[in-house]
Amino acid sequence: MAEGKKRVFSGVQPSGALHIGNYFGALKQWVEMSQEDDCIFCVVDYHALTTVKDPAALRQNILDTTKTLLAIGIDPSNSIIFKQSDVSEHTELAWMLETLVTVKFLELAHAYKDKVAKGLEANAGLFNYPMLMAADILLYDTDIVPVGADQRQHVEYAREAANKFNLAYGQTLKEPQEKIRDEVAVVPGTDGQKMSKSYKNTIPLFGSEEDTLKAIMSIVTDSSGERPAHVYAIHKLFKSEEELAPLYEANKGSYKILKEALAADINAYLAPMRAKYAALTDDDVKKALAQGAAKAKAIASKKMEEVRQNIGVSL
Ligand code: TYM
Repeated sequence: MAEGKKRVFSGVQPSGALHIGNYFGALKQWVEMSQEDDCIFCVVDYHALTTVKDPAALRQNILDTTKTLLAIGIDPSNSIIFKQSDVSEHTELAWMLETLVTVKFLELAHAYKDKVAKGLEANAGLFNYPMLMAADILLYDTDIVPVGADQRQHVEYAREAANKFNLAYGQTLKEPQEKIRDEVAVVPGTDGQKMSKSYKNTIPLFGSEEDTLKAIMSIVTDSSGERPAHVYAIHKLFKSEEELAPLYEANKGSYKILKEALAADINAYLAPMRAKYAALTDDDVKKALAQGAAKAKAIASKKMEEVRQNIGVSL
């Protein structure tokens, strides 16, 4: 790692089309940080396996998600971008961490708790999810993890896992810090709840202009106020409050006009990234991932040698 630079690590699941919540909550920060820090970005395909069971869909999601990262401006020549399944050390370290934390501790994790609360059966992969994520982060001596607010608990779990490991085996794993931007910690969706694939309230990053318009027209509005709150909350991501004031003043109560203005602003903002996305081929993606995997593997395998030594399995 270059001297004086912070090590940044973050990940995204290839479990469906990325949306503007992913972009403003996390990915935009990744691009900014990649210009300053020592950044590693991971397409966490083994995490996605907890929900995606269709091989063709998973393969396509991995290609699309990686293309997204390249199109928004992550540059494989100054950041490492790779997929989790290419570096087997992630699942290896996850196992070791799982032997250190209790079932009770993992039962408190939000994703697992929510599933159980809905009366659904969680697979053991979902239950262990936080330790695979901890392994992702801890393998790379990560200082900072830029994420949206929904990942705060997971980074706390990674810290806790590092701490438990270090207490048991001596100082080996660095405790990371999350970085969450207040203004975009929870980007709202078309219904005002957190934007999320599972709530079906997303605005896609790389859909067509018609897809954007369709999603925007579905934003839930109520007639009680002069300013449609959910429309405005999303509009603020794309334009400053000063820029928006005259538009909303002139079109009080005209929700259709405001929605069309929002869709036009989103499409204008995303146009250059969409053009870049369209120009990328699957081969570009595969090349970037292969390059990234080699670099990530070199760091992770060195760390695992130290880990294996310290836990007593290297003879
Ligand atoms: P994932 O794939 O669900 O989301 C990727 C990133 O997008 C952020 N995000 C949001 N931020 C603000 N508002 C929203 N509505 C919104 N929706 C999504 C997420 O917070 C996240 O930063 N468990 C992780 C993936 C992961 C990971 C890691 C992250 C695996 N290993 C190691 C960091 C470090 C996840 O499911 O993110």
